[in-house]
This record gives sequence, C-alpha cells and structure tokens, in this order.
Amino acid sequence: MNDNKKDIIRIAIFASGNGSNCENIIRYFSSSEVGKVVLVVSNRPDAFVLTRASRCNVDAIVLPKADFANEEKLCSVLKEYGIDIIILAGFLLMIPSFLVKRYQQRIINIHPSLLPKFGGKGMYGIHVHEAVKNAGEKRTGITIHYVNEVCDGGSIIAQYDTDVQPTDTVQDIASKVHELEMRHFPTTIETVIKNL
Ligand code: GRF
Repeated sequence: MNDNKKDIIRIAIFASGNGSNCENIIRYFSSSEVGKVVLVVSNRPDAFVLTRASRCNVDAIVLPKADFANEEKLCSVLKEYGIDIIILAGFLLMIPSFLVKRYQQRIINIHPSLLPKFGGKGMYGIHVHEAVKNAGEKRTGITIHYVNEVCDGGSIIAQYDTDVQPTDTVQDIASKVHELEMRHFPTTIETVIKNL
C-alpha cells in the first residue's frame, strides 16, 4: 500500500460558450489518476458547453452574473463539490477578488494569444485573431496563466506558439491556435496539478 498517495484533485471548469476546451479537458482527465472534472459552471443558460458537460456525464450548473459576485453563493457551490482548482475555458466574466484570494495559484485561464500581446478588455475570441492579422504578426499562440485581479494579467505558466503566414485568414489563425489549445491545455493543467 502506498501511504503517500494523494487524493485526486477535483476540477471545476468555468465556461461561457462553445466549450470545446472544456470537453477536451473533461475527456483528458476521465482516465487520469491525478485529477477529475467534477463540475462545469456557466454564466449563460444557452451556452453549448452545458450540453457537452451533460453528454460527458459531468454536473453542470448555470450561475448568472450576479451569483458570481455573491461570495456566499459561489463558495458554497464550490465547497459542495469539494473543488480544489478552477479552470477558465472561454469564461467571459471577471473573477471576483474574493475567489482569487481563496484560490491563490489555483485558478488557471487560457488566452488565445501570446500575452502580453493582444490581451485585456475586449480581446476575446475572434477579436484576438483579427488583431493579430491586422498587426501583421509572424507568430501567435496560446498563453496559459494564473488568474489574478487584472484581466489577462496573472503570471504565465506556459506559452505555445505557431506561425502566421501572410496568406492566412483570420479563420486560419483561429484554427492553428485552437489546435495548440487542444494539444497543450490539458497537459499543462496536469503538470500544475502534479505540483500542488
Ligand atoms: C478559446 O479560444 C480560449 O483560448 C478562449 O476562449 C476560447 C474558448 O473556446 N479563452 P471553447 O469555448 O473552448 O471552444
């Protein structure tokens, strides 16, 4: 018997939209011994991520914007599920400071550019790739970072990059970045979890 065996880390994913990253992370950890996605939280009742969670048999709940600002409400949900770490995967609300403090270095976001370039307010989804194209960048990529009170401002855990060709459309750039997200986000989360 191994007395040093750690308890499995219980993961919550916060997402506002499509949820391809969320589903990819759920599937990756479904066979993991270090972590497991036990809850998906969305601020939008119509987000496709909720359908994905239910298909994967992961509990999903909708908390409207006001509930995210409500410390008692949000923390009681996280406590009920025994959440150890929170992953933001296309989550469009700011994380309140009470949660940042409670989950120091335990809230992780993915941003679809090489921060600090093309980050901050208004820089989400296709807007990021449009800005990359308009700036004539030769490379773009993803940034996986801890979350603090500053939008896209927490310390960087990992970055992965890809080329941008002059002939690439905004959609081409989005596809290249998406490929990096699928390949690297779950494994980076796993590395963080192993070091907790
Ligand atoms: C991803 O591009 C991610 O980098 C960003 O939001 C997008 C979410 O896509 N933060 P999906 O909902 O996971 O498909």
